[in-house]
Amino acid sequence: MVDQLEQLLTQLETLRTHAVEELSPINTSAELDEWDTRYLGRNRGELKNLSSVMPKLSKEDRPVVGQKINAVKAVLERQLKEKREELKARELMLALERERIDVTLPGRTIPAGRVHPISRAIAEVSNIFLKMGFSVLQGYEVEDDYHNFQALNIPVDHPARDMQDTFWVEPGQILLRTQTSPMQIRTMEQSQPPVRVIVPGKVYRNEDIDATHEAVFHQIEGLLIDEHCTMADLKGCLERFAHEMFGPDRRLRFRSSYFPFTEPSAEVDISCGLCNGKGCRSCKYSGWLEVLGSGMVHPKVLRKVGYDPEKYRGFAFGIGVERIAMLKYDVGEIRLFSGNDLRFLRQL
Ligand code: DAH
Repeated sequence: MVDQLEQLLTQLETLRTHAVEELSPINTSAELDEWDTRYLGRNRGELKNLSSVMPKLSKEDRPVVGQKINAVKAVLERQLKEKREELKARELMLALERERIDVTLPGRTIPAGRVHPISRAIAEVSNIFLKMGFSVLQGYEVEDDYHNFQALNIPVDHPARDMQDTFWVEPGQILLRTQTSPMQIRTMEQSQPPVRVIVPGKVYRNEDIDATHEAVFHQIEGLLIDEHCTMADLKGCLERFAHEMFGPDRRLRFRSSYFPFTEPSAEVDISCGLCNGKGCRSCKYSGWLEVLGSGMVHPKVLRKVGYDPEKYRGFAFGIGVERIAMLKYDVGEIRLFSGNDLRFLRQL
């Protein structure tokens, strides 16, 4: 019997040593749970297995073995508890590390938008004319044939229509305006002289797109009607505009031209800012850059809106906004304006 007792005690001791050895490398709660069931498990745990011999022991041996079992059990349970706490603390640390928020990081910058160069050019031009007493109006991008062409002295089949290849909404009747000039007519239809307006906005032409042509672009129409108005007023007004916009050193050149709704008509060039008129690559060695069309409002146009051409006269002009923006901000490619490329837009 002594043998059996000693054997049992040794087995319990070995079990304790094994269990403690196996515990130390355990890293996860799952592994620890396995260890728990394996050694301390109530059904098939190893300690339980060894305890099952108790009823077969003698009265004297029973308390000895019982004490040993309890001692081993107490050791293992204490170690289990410590290990659980250790793992819990480690898992918490890992979670904190994973979910860490670095409050010292600078915030993300919110990208600030800015005014598009075309809008900016329109604003700059508008401000200059506002100072000269003009009002700023907006027109319709969808127009009728009468206001876009006929009332401007461009009848059906007039060859001038060929210069403005049109996007039709209803062929022959409704169109996307090819110029801002129809607002000359609408303004005069709705008011009496004196008239002083500018009209910035989009225009549409069925153009082949290249470095200087777009199918959608912008114009600023200008119109002044009064009792006393001569070509000298037109020149003075546009010179003032050019000096404010591009600087006092720039000169203007009026080149005789043709527009159906003005007589006489002139295309206006500005002296090249790079070579000061001497001629360089930028101005194609001419010394001049074309900026707008203009002229004295045709008596036929005045009559169409019910103004008496004997009493009233006026001038009109049409500025190409992209052209102005290209000159002012030194942009060599018109498509950049519609491209929405932030690398370009951020520079201005
Ligand atoms: N509407 C003309 C065009 O798009 C530009 C123009 C020329 C407007 C002369 C005018 C003007 O008001 O007087 O080609």
